[in-house]
Amino acid sequence: MKRRFTTGIALCFAAAVCLASASDSLDEIIQAAEKEANDEAVAAARKARTPVPEELIGLSVSDMRVEYHSAPIGMDEPKPRFSYRVSPVGGAWTVLDPETTPPKHQTARRIVVKEKKTGRQVWDSGWVESGETIQIEYEGEPLKPFTAYTWSVTVKDEAGRISESDETCTGPYYFTSTFETGFLGTPWEAEWIGTEPHSENLQPVPFFRGEMPSVPDAVEARLYITALGLYKPYLNGVEIESASGGSVCMTPGWTDYYHRVQYQAYDVTELLRRIGKQCKTNILTVCLAEGWYAGRISRLWSDGNKPTYGDQPVFKAELHIRKTDGSVVKLVTDKNWKYRDSAIVMSDIYDGEHYDATKADADAYWQCMPFTELKKLEPEIRDAVVFNTDALKNVAVEWQSGEFVRERRTLQPQSIRKLDNGTWIVDFGQNFTGREHIDLYGNAEKDNVVRIRHGEMLNPDGTLYTDNLRSAKATTTYVGRQEYEPQFTFYGFRYLGIEGFPESFGNAMPHIELTERNVHAKAVYSGLRQTGTFTCSEPLLNKLFQNIVWGQKSNFLDVPTDCPQRDERLGWTADTQVFANAATYNMDAAAFYTKWLRDLNLCQSSEGGYPSFAPDQYKAAETKGGDFLGYASGWSDAGLIVPWILYTKYGDRRVLERYFDNMVKWLNFQERKSGGTYIVDNAVYGDWLNMDANLSRPFVSTAYFAAMNTLAARIARVIGREEDALKREEVFRKTKEAFRARFMDENGELKEKTQTATLFVLDFDLCDEKERKNALDFLVTDITETRKLHLSTGFLGTPLLLRVLTENGQVDLAYKLLLQTSFPSWLYPVTQGATTMWERWDSWNAERGFGDVSMNSFNHYAYGAVADWFYETICGIRPITDDPAARGFKRFRLEPQPGRELKSASAHYDSAYGRIESGWERRDGELVWDFTVPCNTTAEVVFPCPADKVPPHPGLTRTENSSVFLAAPGKYSFTLPLN
Ligand code: BGC
Repeated sequence: MKRRFTTGIALCFAAAVCLASASDSLDEIIQAAEKEANDEAVAAARKARTPVPEELIGLSVSDMRVEYHSAPIGMDEPKPRFSYRVSPVGGAWTVLDPETTPPKHQTARRIVVKEKKTGRQVWDSGWVESGETIQIEYEGEPLKPFTAYTWSVTVKDEAGRISESDETCTGPYYFTSTFETGFLGTPWEAEWIGTEPHSENLQPVPFFRGEMPSVPDAVEARLYITALGLYKPYLNGVEIESASGGSVCMTPGWTDYYHRVQYQAYDVTELLRRIGKQCKTNILTVCLAEGWYAGRISRLWSDGNKPTYGDQPVFKAELHIRKTDGSVVKLVTDKNWKYRDSAIVMSDIYDGEHYDATKADADAYWQCMPFTELKKLEPEIRDAVVFNTDALKNVAVEWQSGEFVRERRTLQPQSIRKLDNGTWIVDFGQNFTGREHIDLYGNAEKDNVVRIRHGEMLNPDGTLYTDNLRSAKATTTYVGRQEYEPQFTFYGFRYLGIEGFPESFGNAMPHIELTERNVHAKAVYSGLRQTGTFTCSEPLLNKLFQNIVWGQKSNFLDVPTDCPQRDERLGWTADTQVFANAATYNMDAAAFYTKWLRDLNLCQSSEGGYPSFAPDQYKAAETKGGDFLGYASGWSDAGLIVPWILYTKYGDRRVLERYFDNMVKWLNFQERKSGGTYIVDNAVYGDWLNMDANLSRPFVSTAYFAAMNTLAARIARVIGREEDALKREEVFRKTKEAFRARFMDENGELKEKTQTATLFVLDFDLCDEKERKNALDFLVTDITETRKLHLSTGFLGTPLLLRVLTENGQVDLAYKLLLQTSFPSWLYPVTQGATTMWERWDSWNAERGFGDVSMNSFNHYAYGAVADWFYETICGIRPITDDPAARGFKRFRLEPQPGRELKSASAHYDSAYGRIESGWERRDGELVWDFTVPCNTTAEVVFPCPADKVPPHPGLTRTENSSVFLAAPGKYSFTLPLN
């Protein structure tokens, strides 16, 4: 049987899906739509209620991605991986003829890839009997550079019904998508260009310009561009990013610039068509800032504040214009380019930006005026300098595998106040990362200077608290009378302190007040889509969850950073590894972390030490060894932990294969350093920021070393390296023995006793049964009695705390700790009005006020790692990790453990296979649990009540292990007795 879906039908069902989450609610929707006289909605809902004809039932394909991106351009992975989702067309969401059965699973698939222009087929996977819809590797002819491809999927369900696309359709239908390659290893014609050589930073931002005659018969145009620094390109005066679908910023992002930089590809066809037609010449102008490459962030901790990556920023660009006859003309950066200083007088990631609008007109002319006329106006035009050093030749220019950083959201002021000293304090009500937009509407002298400082908190006297920024000036200086928003920097802030806002302007405006018309802000972060939500009956916990998500938004800015405000903003590896599990529930971070892992691995020292932060501009892993800033237990181990999390969430085996040898190198290096004792001593930062509960370095690093060998063994098994797995298990056994001999006394008690110490031994399997019991007893007593229901854990212990308690029969205690509101606890900051996660448990407390100012961020996500427990335990959504057939949530676990203190809780997670939902509520002495198993997956369900009390339900079967049920795709609702 073969079904062919037409676009119209697909769209009609899409409308139905949008309208209703279940056919039952369609009546309500129709009624509501009728009330609002929304004819379109009424018609769509009626259509959705109409039984779907049997011949149209099958699987539909959506969310087609290549290397995690939807229809990427400039994609240079020679063996890209495809993924998509299937869902029942006319199945789950619409009314079915009672005779029909909606599809539940994909049983086979076929992918065909063709060159878009010629239609020539380059790969036909043939029919593959498989339910997998993710991580499908391309195996066709070698891909060609600068070539667009289409790929289409045909799928078969369990009844043998085939769903495929109708290739004549031109609309947005389900089954075909595209991707386009970029350089794919072919050399660039463009050269690196920059200003006159110098090695100073905080310099005026140069504005480069290149031009070419316009191309009347252009059919397609692409800009390929990158910088060692930050760039912003304009074509004939129009900013390119916004022309190609939204404003992107901080490009090309931060990578290990010693080895690589990413280029971006922009489709500028439309822009050229719209604007280029009127111009005789196409003018490409590019602003080039110091950014991560040459600004203070790459100098601060170097000897004598010297540049590290390179002295000054450079960039390269190629504009490719394809003509009707297929030939391509190019504009490339070379010695013919010119530059002058732009109106941006200074821009730096730590210090902020200084913009002089009195020079703005010159910038505007520069972008579109013919050169001959420009010369008359602007005496300061200089020739670009070509840079061709060996160091630059070693920098590979690679495709953008990560996500673009974008302006994601606009925030309006929640309050505006004027202090006695004339400074305006603007409160956005939310701590976040981004920049402000100021507008004076011309009501100022043209050389009026506005100075805007950024702070996360206020001092008790209402002034801006900026002490925690350390040396970061984090200031916008704007000279002018219109509007401005910084371009090449970002700030972590909730409040602005604005000085120099004009108090009056001429007779017509003797008294000017700053209002919300004058200022708003844009939150800037990597464009990850949110894939998870959590909500429950306890408002404080809901706020904590929102704070965690804001912490993620604030610190996912091309690299996962520790904090966004002070003079740091680095990709600290422990922060990353502890948060990654929660982060990958909250958002689709596959591309984001994949990109970062490449840099982490490039920064590994020659001996094997992964750095404390990546990118590692100071080459500290190499030069500092196991000292501060060098490699460190718990930090460097991100090299194993983050790839594993990508595997468990997205089924990504490639990151494991790609980096396994590096992982082993790190482990072997530590083993060698231990001199055969298996006692390792790298834990430079210990259990960072714990509450008076320090552990010795050897304790932390030996425990972590043991755990990482266990993890490496699991990884080895997933990628089929059994011998390596055995070797790792042997090292684990030896380390465990060494650990016990050194850290346990003859009574089976730990010699170093802290909450984190016990969490390590329990979670990492470092003890025998008796020792285990002792450790757990200590943990419970320390929490409940010694610390009166408080935690004492730091960065490394905290992420384990609730899970280990839960796994050891202490789920009630875990809930109590989570819901604790007094200091120190997760909720204490929430009770104090926090809108993000704080770096320290005591970043601020009522008794002592602000914490240690030498390191006190109010936007640090590390302690937000607890959010994984919301998904995994409160709502019970979890991956099954060691069964290759389960990867990527093809098969997953549902096992909520409702806490007595909560009346209800629910979460959803958009897995690679589709949306999983789980929500429970206590109602009249019973527990109502609703959950959704997406199409083409199976859930292993453990009910929060005795298995024999579970009522029968279609789609639910009991396994031999009687407490585990298998649930087929569908929606379920159970009323259960309370335990
Ligand atoms: C960072 C941390 C980081 C730590 C290492 C701090 O300055 O902000 O989050 O992990 O240093 O000790």
